[in-house]
Amino acid sequence: MRKKIVAGNWKMNKTASETKGLIDALKNQLNPSDVEVMIAPTFVNLHAAVQQTNDSHIEVIAQNMHQAESGAYTGEISAAMLKDIGVETVIIGHSERRAYFGETDAILAEKTKAALDNGLRVVFCFGEELADRQSEKHFELVASQLKNALFTLPSSAWNNIVLAYEPVWAIGTGETASPEQAQEMHAFIRTTLAAAYDDALAQEVSILYGGSVKPANAEEIFGKADVDGGLIGGAALNADDFNAIVTANK
Ligand code: PGA
Repeated sequence: MRKKIVAGNWKMNKTASETKGLIDALKNQLNPSDVEVMIAPTFVNLHAAVQQTNDSHIEVIAQNMHQAESGAYTGEISAAMLKDIGVETVIIGHSERRAYFGETDAILAEKTKAALDNGLRVVFCFGEELADRQSEKHFELVASQLKNALFTLPSSAWNNIVLAYEPVWAIGTGETASPEQAQEMHAFIRTTLAAAYDDALAQEVSILYGGSVKPANAEEIFGKADVDGGLIGGAALNADDFNAIVTANK
């Protein structure tokens, strides 16, 4: 079912005590609403964060996972490990994973399948780089990212997939896609989904926008018809800002 969602991707920020402090502040500030609120602390703090949010409507999600069930993958974390500590959702395909850790569409297809097979929900990230947009290849690129990683999945899998369109040129740069650019791409994504599956499925998938969302621009971006919420980086590290962004997703 299509839902309003605001997810905070904390990336490699916040120690254990800072994580606890930020969650305390969020629990004090965030009012229950029809917006699903997710936060993604770093791996070492996930278990404590899950326990700390048990009595709230904040969902703690993971930033990444490995595609194998278990085995000799030093430093990696499996889907089963996430499930076992009460994590139900994982971010897959963030552009920083693609750029710095060599995650290709093929790897992301495996990760998505492994997550879904283990009963996790996936927030799947994708988006073009500046050069793609400047050469007007951004629609083609986004369509190929979706096709390569996701379109062999059965329709039923889409109940557990949230899409996050994140133009790489807007991540952490202070430069945001205009609300019109976000809407144009989100509408294109829905059309692409409808062509690969059907229109009913395309209408049911939540599509988040990510890339320098701030309290000052959130309402206008979330107000667009095909934008169901946001994946927030920098502004998710501050309780006041994150709360303002959640409130903006009316
Ligand atoms: P940003 O990051 O909000 O800091 O641009 C977004 C993201 O990487 O998900």
